[in-house]
Amino acid sequence: MADKLRVMITEEEIDKRVKEIADEINAEYGDQEVHLICVLRGGSFFMCELAKRITCPVTLDFIACSSYGNDTKSSGVVRIVKDLSDSIVDKNVIVIEDVVDTGRTLNYLLDMLWDRKPKTMKLCALLDKPSRRVVEVKTDYIGFTIPDEFVVGYGLDYAQRYRNLPYIAVIEPEAAK
Ligand code: PRP
Repeated sequence: MADKLRVMITEEEIDKRVKEIADEINAEYGDQEVHLICVLRGGSFFMCELAKRITCPVTLDFIACSSYGNDTKSSGVVRIVKDLSDSIVDKNVIVIEDVVDTGRTLNYLLDMLWDRKPKTMKLCALLDKPSRRVVEVKTDYIGFTIPDEFVVGYGLDYAQRYRNLPYIAVIEPEAAK
């Protein structure tokens, strides 16, 4: 027996949407520089594909964070596992995520990043699960709004696997059967 996967969003649909989002960003920023911040690990695939289609000058950085254990997850306190390499002062930052779920991670992260005085900051997420939201988060660019299902692929994992799938799939893990 193996984990069961059902395709929710095809590679072609993602490609098309990524291009549309890049076009929005290109129109909005013109020849201004944009500084993309990838939230590891899930945001990595989306950021690479998006960055390739952005025509404004682009710089990149990475941040990784994790919640403090399951017991304290509801506190919304997030631990920075890998901080940014560069300052974001006066930059046009776009934070790139794979999914906004409860909103706790992004709420904490965006507050922390605003304190570092970027010129502007927007949030771009491939997926949004608004029905799961616990904390309000302002999203600026969203790829797809999806229902509350366990999805993998295009950066999203189940037990660290399936991130490399070129599409988004609903997973029914073998362990849950
Ligand atoms: C996922 C996702 C977001 C966060 C969203 O990260 O990439 O960062 O959870 O959840 P929230 O809205 O409920 O805070 P995860 O901790 O699974 O790390 P990963 O990106 O390395 O898979």
